[in-house]
Amino acid sequence: MSCNSAWATRRPSYPDGAGAAKDHNISYAARISGVGRYLPSRILTNHDLEQMVDTSDEWIVERSGIRERHIAADDESSSTMGAEAARMAIASAGIEGSDIDLVVAGTCTPDGPFPSVATRIQHSVGANRAGAFDVNSACTGFLSALGTSAQFIASGAAECALVVGTETMSRIVDWTDRGTCVLFGDGAGALVIERAAEGEPAGIESLVLGSDGGQADLLYSHGPCTAPVVLDGLEQEAKIVMDGRGIFRNAVTALTKAARQAIDEAGLTVDDISLCVPHQPNIRILQAMARGLDLPMERVFVNLDKYGNTSSATIPIALSEASDAGRLQPGDHILFAAFGGGLSWGAMVFQWSGVRVPVAAAMKAGAAAAAPVS
Ligand code: ACO
Repeated sequence: MSCNSAWATRRPSYPDGAGAAKDHNISYAARISGVGRYLPSRILTNHDLEQMVDTSDEWIVERSGIRERHIAADDESSSTMGAEAARMAIASAGIEGSDIDLVVAGTCTPDGPFPSVATRIQHSVGANRAGAFDVNSACTGFLSALGTSAQFIASGAAECALVVGTETMSRIVDWTDRGTCVLFGDGAGALVIERAAEGEPAGIESLVLGSDGGQADLLYSHGPCTAPVVLDGLEQEAKIVMDGRGIFRNAVTALTKAARQAIDEAGLTVDDISLCVPHQPNIRILQAMARGLDLPMERVFVNLDKYGNTSSATIPIALSEASDAGRLQPGDHILFAAFGGGLSWGAMVFQWSGVRVPVAAAMKAGAAAAAPVS
């Protein structure tokens, strides 16, 4: 039920001369060179939710750590929010849309069945040379999208990819179910990844992905689709349906195991991890994972209090904030870990080499390239 890319046993090797990229034994490192995020302006607080369902700010904070979440406006969608985050990531990488070879969007809340969110973003950011497609593995969607894109870089099939996690969870939340509606929010995050130059920090060092479709009924939403009324024994339901305790148990176990495996496969120990930037479902899940890994919470990046669970957008939003906050230094080994419906889970370790343009400066000064910074 779990696979890994054997990244550690396929250390990047670079060609000596032109044309050697066609040699299938060659593997390139993928570095993250730009980060971006977008959160819609409307904020829904726990106190607002008290007016909607039988709940309290105290219960939500104690059981989940969430205080507020952002909600998309009527004219916003996963593709419009994803495009905003992408523009910021492109500026922070100091590149143009036309430099991008590939756009991959992780989302379980696309604008519609097709066209893909990725093609809409591709058009919005002027990535006029790029192929584009979506990846859906619920809250693990961003990690799946990043792993897929990194394989394109590793193989030489692409040199520069835009990877987006974007969700409009508010459109599939059951706003009458207090057990789920308090947990989710909307938003988008994006990264630019590029072929690393020889001698740069290692970039992506390991990737572990796992799944267990046998437990699909713990968390699902069929949404408005063409499936039969009952599919695989699950009743068709437009809204999120969740067994909170079942998800909690599985999330802690899978996140901890996948994170350990990814650290091992990178040839590192937990002590080598400078910062874990995990999916953001619930503070208690993250605390249990950290305990299981023997990783102090000071080295776990948490922003779920402000945004709730934005599914596949959590990790790129958090990475972008961690970069802005100066919590990433070139050479740091960073851990991603995600878990979601499917069930699906994954973890990745990468070595940070710094974005080219700090996000704040990138937004002010456009996409002017500068020396690498954290
Ligand atoms: N406000 C007040 N009371 C509530 C609320 C609420 N919003 N929601 C549930 N309750 C009640 C329940 O009805 C129950 O009442 P009862 O004892 O009278 O039956 C009581 O609180 C306890 O319910 P539990 O479900 O046992 O509460 P728990 O401590 O497990 O917390 C929660 C629930 C927060 C959903 C937790 O199980 C959880 O976070 N699970 C993980 C789910 C998750 O993160 N999903 C996100 C998607 S998957 C992913 O991204 C990882």
